[in-house]
Amino acid sequence: MKGIILAGGFGTRLFPITKVVSKQLLPIYDKPMIYYPLSVLMMANIREILVISTPKDISNYKILLGDGSHLGISLNYKIQDQPRGLADAFIVGESFIADSDVSLILGDNVFCGEQLNKILNGISIENNALIFAYPVSNPSDFGVVAFDSANNVHSIEEKPMYPMSNYAVPGLYFYNNKVVKIAKDIEASARGELEITDINRIYLDQKKLKVKLLNNEVKWFDTGSCGGLIEASNYIHNYQKDNGKYVGCIEEVAYDKGYINDYDLIALADKLKSTDYGKYLLSLLSRDIG
Ligand code: DAU
Repeated sequence: MKGIILAGGFGTRLFPITKVVSKQLLPIYDKPMIYYPLSVLMMANIREILVISTPKDISNYKILLGDGSHLGISLNYKIQDQPRGLADAFIVGESFIADSDVSLILGDNVFCGEQLNKILNGISIENNALIFAYPVSNPSDFGVVAFDSANNVHSIEEKPMYPMSNYAVPGLYFYNNKVVKIAKDIEASARGELEITDINRIYLDQKKLKVKLLNNEVKWFDTGSCGGLIEASNYIHNYQKDNGKYVGCIEEVAYDKGYINDYDLIALADKLKSTDYGKYLLSLLSRDIG
């Protein structure tokens, strides 16, 4: 399985903040936003990852994350010249995906919680598509999935005026390789975008769309608004303080997965030694001994 982080778009909902800085580079408390979705793909054991962003911003992602070798993963980069919609990620990423299954995560989606690692570590799609369901009070702002108690999906709609359920579809998706062809075949929606929800509906029609309910122990934020940014930052701040465990810490995931060793971790921490982040990385070494 390969992974794609979609980190483009104009960020107009966050203007003027995002006039110069790409949204997915903005801080969520103590780290750049993109660290969170990157850590999610890594927790799902995905080591080959493509970052897609705009012609203006892609070089900043390369500066921030490099080729991924310091984390024991491979990071690749591609430009999306226009925000043609989420499903365009599979067209832009076609040569990267090649004949693999692929996961897509939106660069502005933040997940947090005790069970997250366990859920992601255990994911297998068995030639299907997998989406998640998360209860919200404002379903009309999202993709909405309706399903029964046996997790059979009944419908999926994009930002419906009259939603069939209170379950939003977070921006984390797992697909078999057919998704590339499906993305190439769909047409732009009334708002002019290649919709991820149209891809999901095709899998649903083929009875190949699975849904997993994210339970109360996972918290999800779409940080595409000013309110979402501060809410996620505050939550992560409190979570890290209360639990003594960082969220979205890509170095920690790499270390826990065995992609990097003690010496690698010390070298990464050394570059951040004047920060709490660097001290936290060093504390992971004694955690193992203790
Ligand atoms: O956050 C979850 C929701 O994300 C889902 O529930 C919806 O079904 C899905 O359509 C999407 O809705 P949004 O309205 O939040 O999508 P938005 O247009 O804000 O794009 C999400 C991210 O993807 C954002 O960080 C910008 C980036 N993006 C977006 C488009 C359309 C790109 O990089 N390229 C694009 O072409």
